[in-house]
Amino acid sequence: MLAKFTVISGGSSEYLAKKLAKRLGANLIKSHLKFFPDGESKITLKGKFQRSKIIVIQSTYPPVNENLIQTLSIISKAREFGTEVIAVVPYMGYARQDREFLPGEVVTMKVIANLFKSVGTSRIIVIDIHSIRGLKYFQIKSSNITAIPNLAKYFSKLKLTNPLVVSPDHGGKARAKEFAEILNREFITLEKQRDRKTGRVKIKAKKINGITGRDLILVDDMISTGGSIIKATEFLKKQKCKRVFVACTHALFGDEVGKKIKKAGVTRIISTNTIPGRTALVDISGTIAKAII
Ligand code: R5P
Repeated sequence: MLAKFTVISGGSSEYLAKKLAKRLGANLIKSHLKFFPDGESKITLKGKFQRSKIIVIQSTYPPVNENLIQTLSIISKAREFGTEVIAVVPYMGYARQDREFLPGEVVTMKVIANLFKSVGTSRIIVIDIHSIRGLKYFQIKSSNITAIPNLAKYFSKLKLTNPLVVSPDHGGKARAKEFAEILNREFITLEKQRDRKTGRVKIKAKKINGITGRDLILVDDMISTGGSIIKATEFLKKQKCKRVFVACTHALFGDEVGKKIKKAGVTRIISTNTIPGRTALVDISGTIAKAII
């Protein structure tokens, strides 16, 4: 019997691709990657193509530009075989460059949206994109799906002391609210300020009542340099909370940042497998499959 879907995995999302293909009963094709001495990527798709809807899955975490060009290249080849090509980019790099913060800045998210269209993408699915604004640049069908229920479900199984959900900034308020509602808990929002030139963050100091002795869950879309989570944790610890946990969709950081976050007082970080790694304990393949079918 012919499968309805073919899943092609880019190198950065192989594990997730395997899980997704299994859930969809899809044919799985891997991309074989080589690098030329000058750094160019050379991709070969190996496997038997059936005429079907094709799903190309690849997160564009670091090395962002390499993963991005590989994703676009795979889509352009998949277009030759597929009746439709759906790009699943669980972590969408460049999504934070979705507006001109300072005069003269390039809105790179817009450039990338145009590239996805030009290589023949029919539809794009992303997970917890930094801001929905990024999706407006795609002139193809686009959807953002959220991993917040998956993360909240994980936390509902932990033994926590009177937990309170915290968003480190106003941009993340809706995510924290959703997380808190699922757990049937309250949430608060901190006031984060980022210096647009240096990238440094600080939390606006104010006394927050009612957090003494409570476990806190910081909810964020992503952790990169760790600056946001570190500053928020230091601030919350000063207010005499108990433990600080972190739930984030995309854990972009490496071991060094992980150590700094621990040092700031975070007990545990839980992320999803949009980016593989030690903290990626929440699987979102089921959520992606539902969005596709
Ligand atoms: C920013 O507004 C985002 O929601 C994240 O809080 C931020 O991008 C995390 O980056 P970093 O770990 O570098 O502070």
